[in-house]
Amino acid sequence: MVNDATYNGSGLILGIESSCDETAAAVVRRGTHQLSNVVASQIAIHSPYGGVVPELASREHLRAIVPVVEAALREAGVSMGGAGLGMNSLDAIAVTEGPGLAGALLVGIGYAKALAYALGKPLIAVNHLEGHIHAVLLEHAASVPTTGPLLALVVSGGHTHLYLAQQRDGTWHYRNVGRTVDDAAGEAFDKVAKLLGLGYPGGPWIDHLAPHGNPGAVPFTFAQIKPKAHLANKPQRPAQHTHQARFLFSFSGIKTAVLRYVETHAMAASIAARRQQFTPSIKPAHAVALCDQQTLDLLASFQRAVVDDLKRKTFAAAEHYGAHGLLVSGGVAANRELRSRFTAAAADRGLPIAFPALSLATDNAAMIAAAAWPKLVSRDFAPPSLSARPSLPLGAETALP
Ligand code: KG4
Ligand code: ZN
Repeated sequence: MVNDATYNGSGLILGIESSCDETAAAVVRRGTHQLSNVVASQIAIHSPYGGVVPELASREHLRAIVPVVEAALREAGVSMGGAGLGMNSLDAIAVTEGPGLAGALLVGIGYAKALAYALGKPLIAVNHLEGHIHAVLLEHAASVPTTGPLLALVVSGGHTHLYLAQQRDGTWHYRNVGRTVDDAAGEAFDKVAKLLGLGYPGGPWIDHLAPHGNPGAVPFTFAQIKPKAHLANKPQRPAQHTHQARFLFSFSGIKTAVLRYVETHAMAASIAARRQQFTPSIKPAHAVALCDQQTLDLLASFQRAVVDDLKRKTFAAAEHYGAHGLLVSGGVAANRELRSRFTAAAADRGLPIAFPALSLATDNAAMIAAAAWPKLVSRDFAPPSLSARPSLPLGAETALP
């Protein structure tokens, strides 16, 4: 059987990602060597709406996909004609199959299919969540423990999931052991930022502003999620395939608590004034000056509470499942307080921990090309009928306990 070491092709994979509001393409060799990583962000388009507008996202992907792929190939030294490595040096085209916005996914899938067909190359379908996990492995594959399962926290604008991840016989296997029952953590960052008159996406702004406030000023608490309460709307789900309630997250309550704080502390006028002045091109120092101390304290307390909740449940799950190491990925993994508090907690427990580079934390295509590498080696190719799967899950759900 062919394995990593005996595979004798170029190992070059062109990855394409279009699941949400970033059109991205990248060329990665053998899952670990990034030759290019191009991301066209749609932030400016969705910013006035304070969230992603699906119809606009699809149109924008369609506009950006050709120049983005061309730029990724050019940067990687893969020419579309003429001298140097030609398109034929690619061993496969990998594309995000889901989860994500249907119309947005279809743009990447349609383009990847056509390209694979024209070049006579295999097409590889990648789960976006698996991609986020491989954003960490891309750079840290050599240093993460391979002796037992790893616990992966994928925490982004659309997801907050805990997975056990383990490689066996060259294939990665995943088991979902925790998830949010309502909003994703990044969504809470974005909604709180919007509520307080800050820019979109809100995570990076809160990350920047929180160190100027007192994280102990507002005592936010997270209620324990009742066992099976999260199944109330999913009667078809067999009860034995549920999660341990203590590894479930819920971020809609803290968003409501922030709203209540704002209402009871007469903050509406100052928020309205800030919203007028907060432009997408605002400089970070100016953003701090637009916030009074009460707002900075509220942001610091919100961020501390979210990071603490993520940390407590992630480390409890790592202990429960005997994880040999932690991988933390997704847009919220760019957060500086999250990185420092997780790093300190891991050091206390002697647990190896790895994060992606900042450029790989948010959505990108290098992570899609990296996740496709083991599938190329094992010839796990997508059928010509490949289509978008907006709710595609990753791995099996765990049985209790
Ligand atoms: O992974 P990503 O690019 O897209 C999804 O798959 O959702 O994550 C985007 C999310 C947004 O909610 C954004 O506010 C959040 O990640 N984010 C951050 C930071 N940078 C991005 N949240 C907190 N701190 C940050 N530094
Ligand atoms: Zn993502």
